[in-house]
Amino acid sequence: MSRMTVNDRPVQFDMDPETPLLWALRDAANLTGTKYGCGNGDCHACTVIVDGAALRACLITIAEAEGRFITTIEGLSNDRSHAVQQAMVAEQAIQCGFCTPGIVMAAAALLQRNSAPSEAEIKAALPNICRCGVYPRLVRAVQRAGRVARRSETISAAPAPGISAEDAARAVPAMRPLPRDDAPGSEPD
Ligand code: FES
Ligand code: FES
Repeated sequence: MSRMTVNDRPVQFDMDPETPLLWALRDAANLTGTKYGCGNGDCHACTVIVDGAALRACLITIAEAEGRFITTIEGLSNDRSHAVQQAMVAEQAIQCGFCTPGIVMAAAALLQRNSAPSEAEIKAALPNICRCGVYPRLVRAVQRAGRVARRSETISAAPAPGISAEDAARAVPAMRPLPRDDAPGSEPD
């Protein structure tokens, strides 16, 4: 079993500790926004934020994620209001959308440490493969999201999602929510 915090919820995965985090998120936690592309570290479709860094969930086991803070696309915002999400829609940087969650997570992690990245910095931070080829729009979207983050621009809201966060993240037997006091890293009373 492995304990960690996923989207601000302390959880325990009753699974083989060598299970890739990607499978725990998708199959146990039902957080299917994190995509399975290649399974071997090439496509970056499975990118999530782990303790502030963009990491590929197919390359980390749940044992390695023990005690860490994981954010998936479902936890970035519950109403698509994150600047990167808004800018991706506004710049039409989404075609089929399969690569989009991984790209959004990588861009969000980049903007957290550098809200005004150059084109070269964006390309270096987002090696994600997009089979639809949205790359030029993607650079514009990340730069626009940076301007929103720096409050030099606003974007009108994208449409509300068609599914609630609770439905998307409903519990299944392999994952149990833990009481907050039992969360990894919490101080005993
Ligand atoms: S599924 Fe993880 S890098 Fe492709
Ligand atoms: S939008 Fe289709 S793979 Fe990127």
